[in-house]
Parts: sequence; structure tokens; C-alpha cells
Amino acid sequence: MLRVVSFLIVVIFFINTIKCAEILAIFHSPPKSMHLGGVALAEILAENKHNVTFVSSVEISPPPRTFTHVFLDDVAEASGGHMNYFNMNTNSYHQAYLLEHIGIGVSNATIRNPKFKQLLSSKKFDLVILEAIYSDSLIFIAEYLNVPLLLYSSVDAFYFSNFIFGNYAPASFIPNLLTGYTSDMTFFQRVDNLLISIACYLMHYTVGIPTHDIIVKDNFRNAPHIAEYNNKASVMLLNSDSSVTQPVPLVPGMIDIGGFHIKKPKKLPRDLEELLNNSKHGVIYFSLGSLLQSSEMSNQTIKTLIEVFSKLKETVLWKWEDEELPEKPPNVIIKKWLPQNDILAHKNVKLFITHGGLHSLLETVYHAVPCVMIPVFFDQKRNAKRAQSCGFAENINFEELTSEKLELAVRKVLNNPKYTESVKKRSSIMRDKPLSPAETLLFWVNYVIRHNGAHHLKVSSLKLAWYQYFLLDVSVFLAACLIFSILLIRYLFQSMMGKRTTKKIKTK
Ligand SMILES: *[C@@H]1O[C@H](CO)[C@@H](O)[C@H](O)[C@H]1NC(C)=O
Ligand SMILES: *[C@@H]1O[C@H](CO)[C@@H](O)[C@H](O)[C@H]1NC(C)=O
Ligand SMILES: *[C@@H]1O[C@H](CO)[C@@H](O)[C@H](O)[C@H]1NC(C)=O
Ligand SMILES: *[C@@H]1O[C@H](CO)[C@@H](O)[C@H](O)[C@H]1NC(C)=O
Repeated sequence: MLRVVSFLIVVIFFINTIKCAEILAIFHSPPKSMHLGGVALAEILAENKHNVTFVSSVEISPPPRTFTHVFLDDVAEASGGHMNYFNMNTNSYHQAYLLEHIGIGVSNATIRNPKFKQLLSSKKFDLVILEAIYSDSLIFIAEYLNVPLLLYSSVDAFYFSNFIFGNYAPASFIPNLLTGYTSDMTFFQRVDNLLISIACYLMHYTVGIPTHDIIVKDNFRNAPHIAEYNNKASVMLLNSDSSVTQPVPLVPGMIDIGGFHIKKPKKLPRDLEELLNNSKHGVIYFSLGSLLQSSEMSNQTIKTLIEVFSKLKETVLWKWEDEELPEKPPNVIIKKWLPQNDILAHKNVKLFITHGGLHSLLETVYHAVPCVMIPVFFDQKRNAKRAQSCGFAENINFEELTSEKLELAVRKVLNNPKYTESVKKRSSIMRDKPLSPAETLLFWVNYVIRHNGAHHLKVSSLKLAWYQYFLLDVSVFLAACLIFSILLIRYLFQSMMGKRTTKKIKTK
């Protein structure tokens, strides 16, 4: 008994001595899904004794209890204001261009924001965590404060995460996120993948990086060139998990924490719980995430959806951001906001119709609900293809949506048990881990603080120039040696032959 008590005292003492750190988390990107990932991260750190100051461009109401929120009200505007993504050009080159420019706009607006500038001198921070999508200039903040930096990526290893971490990602089997390909590419897809990868690289290094350098120098006099601190971080947490994203090589500092945002399901509001409990034929949950407003779809698309839903016996729970849905069939229930994680956890939910964003995908696999995916842009097409190849989803590109295709897909997934079996398998893979994703996140944040940036994890490819990395210098050298040897042999051979012939001529 005494032993148990003293053991407990030691354990409690140990837990209490985990160092509390002052953390600055910068999640400036306006898309709500990125912001929500940041909120989940800040909550986990705050619940584990860290003081977190969370900077974002989306309001939180009511204000968070566990951490300090600094709301930058002019950053969302800098991304070009509100966009209807259903009309967005889905060409991957155009997407790369748009994302690069949005990144420049929002990073610039963040650095210039007076509230943000004031924050930097208001406290002494121990760590900066930065959402690392097209935000190179903000890396300088950690350099300026002279504290370690940890990066977070809302997606899996992306092309510029690979650049700044020296991660090995050949275009032969690692598709660029924007192409929508999976690892199994045909010859021409590999051609396309290589070309877009080169285009992204050139755009980032001829437009992106130099502009970010200007942004930093505009705001901090005497700032060094961006190349001097661009590789400052040694650890990047990725919102991916091999149960849903494809397995890829990762350098030791790149850590999968996909699924960390998923909380233990809470009790549903009474009306929703009754609805879910009492739907005799089960419930279909339909949501296109936080970025895509389903009320912004064209009238034609809405008609298509209603036509299909009205033929089903299941109840359809639809996240619809308007007050009314004209011609709504009786089995369709609309709500402006729905607690997605708690709904997916309910046993009576038979199918999730989703856009295939990473957060939704991770949640549906965690709760083992099969899907019909209607991907729109960015990583969604790739996610949907992968979900289909894992056997737990059917997949229709948004621009190809017709009522026949949708009805066929919905009926397939509802009637064939194969989809549920596959998603259960994936779910058990996702849950089979030594540490939960949230614990992994916490471990690595503490690790980076304990080891002052954890620079021992950096791979040495970062010290090489690109032509050294691809061994072009060595190849040229070897080719030169080969050519020289061939020429030498030919010369020797010829001169030998020459001597012989001259001998012959002499003997004649
Ligand atoms: C965290 O915040 C509390 C309350 O503001 C403060 O007393 C404490 O010193 C802070 N911890 C660190 C490590 O700064
Ligand atoms: C940053 O924003 C300011 C104000 O909008 C603008 O004048 C400046 O040109 C921007 N800088 C870059 C590099 O885009
Ligand atoms: C719904 O069903 C669950 C389990 O069957 C039950 O515990 C809960 O009380 C029910 N809720 C309502 C509102 O009927
Ligand atoms: C779509 O339908 C609504 C209501 O039925 C109507 O007010 C609106 O003008 C329609 N929009 C288009 C683009 O046809």
C-alpha cells in the first residue's frame, strides 16, 4: 500500500515537473479547416500545461478558455476575400499559382499587422509553431525571437515541405498533391507529375521565396537573406496517417499526427439524438466541409442532389448554410451547423457523403463510416481516389456529378457490405498505435523544446546544392571519365595500328 502511494507521488511529481512553456502558435491561413486544426492543436497543448498564444485570421466565439487567442481581422481580406470554390479553375498549374499568391498575401498581411507586431515584444516565448503552407516569411519570426521553431502542415508532406526538410520524394511514385493522382501513375501521369513538380519548384524559388524575402526585409530592417533561416525547423508535424494517406518515405523529423483533432464523441443535442435514434432505415450524413458552402452550389446541382435524396428511404442529414431549401423532400433534414464528429460516432449513420477533405476523411475512417466522395479541388481528388482504392468509398468528381451517378454510388455503398468491412479494417489500422496522435503531437512539441529545436534530426541533403543532390556533378564527372577513356583507348589503338601499317609499309 505504502509503495503504491509513494509510486503515485513520484508519478504525480514527474507529471508536474514537465516544463510549462510559453508557446506562440501562428495559424494565419484563412480557410476554416486549417484554423480548426490549429485550434485543436492549441487545446491539446493548453490542456497539458503549456501557455499558448494562438494567432489566427478566423474569429473564435465564445473566446477560448484554455488559451489566448489573437485575432488578426485584416488577413482574410488579403487572400482575395470570399471565393466560391465550386467555380474554381481546377487546373493544377493554376491552383499552384493561386496558392502561391494567396500565401504571399496572407503572410504579408500577418507580418504587417500591428497587433501581431506588438505581440512579438509582449512576452518571452519558448517556442514558435507555424502552419507551414506558403508561409516562408513567417519562419523569420522564430529567428527574430531567437527560439526553436516547429512546423505544422494541414496536409501530408507537400512539395515545399519536402524542399525545406530535404525529404526524398521522387516524381516517379510520389504524386504532387495538386495533380489528384495516387501513387499508381500511368506513364503519361508520371510525365505530367514531373512537369508540375518542376513548375512548382520554379515558381516557389523564382516568385515565392524572393517575395517572402522582400516581405521580411520590409518589416524587419537588417534581416538576413531568407536562405539563411528557411531550413530553421527540424520537426514538422503532418496531418496525415497511413490508414488514409499513402505511405511515403519521411525524414526523421517529419511526423504523422493525422487524427489528433478527433475528440472523444460528446453527447448529441437532444433533437439530433432523437432523430438519429428514431430513423428506422438509418441516416445518411451529407456535408461538404467548412470551406465549401453547399448553399453556394448551382441550382442545377442542388436539384440533382434533391432528386436522388427524395428516392431514398434513409433519412438525409444535410449541412445547409441557408434558412430554407426549396423543394426539400420530407426525409431530408437541414441544419446550418452539425457536430460532425459526434454524428459520425452514432451507430445509426450508414453513409457519409463528403467532399473528401482530410479532416472529414480521418474522422470517417476513425468512426468506420463508409463514404461517397464528391471531391472539388486541392487534395480532395487524390484523397477520394485513395479512399476508393482502399475499398471504403465510391467517388464522383464534383464537375461530373449527375443524379444517375450519385444514386448508383449511394446504393452501392449502402447495399454492399464490402464498404463497411473495408472501412472497419482501415479504422483498426488507424487506432493501432503506441501513442495516440494527440499524445504524439504533445511528445514532439516537448521534444523540440527539450532539445532546443532538435537539430540533430536534420538530414545532410540540406547542405547540398540541387545538382549535388541529384548527383548531376558526379554523373557529369563519370561521363567525362568514360568519354576520356574511350577516346584514350581509340587513340592508343589507332596509334598502334598506325605503327603497324608504317612497319608494314617499311618492310615492303
Ligand atoms: C503561464 O501563464 C501563467 C499565468 O499567466 C504565468 O503565471 C506563468 O508564469 C506562465 N508560464 C510560463 C512558462 O511563462
Ligand atoms: C504587402 O502589403 C502592403 C500593403 O498592402 C503592400 O503595399 C506591399 O506591396 C505588400 N508587399 C508585397 C511584397 O507584396
Ligand atoms: C438514443 O439511443 C441511446 C442508445 O440506444 C440511448 O441511450 C439514448 O437515451 C437515446 N436518446 C434519445 C434522445 O432517445
Ligand atoms: C436559384 O433558385 C433560387 C430560388 O429558387 C432563385 O432565387 C435563384 O435566382 C436561382 N439562381 C439561379 C442562378 O438560377
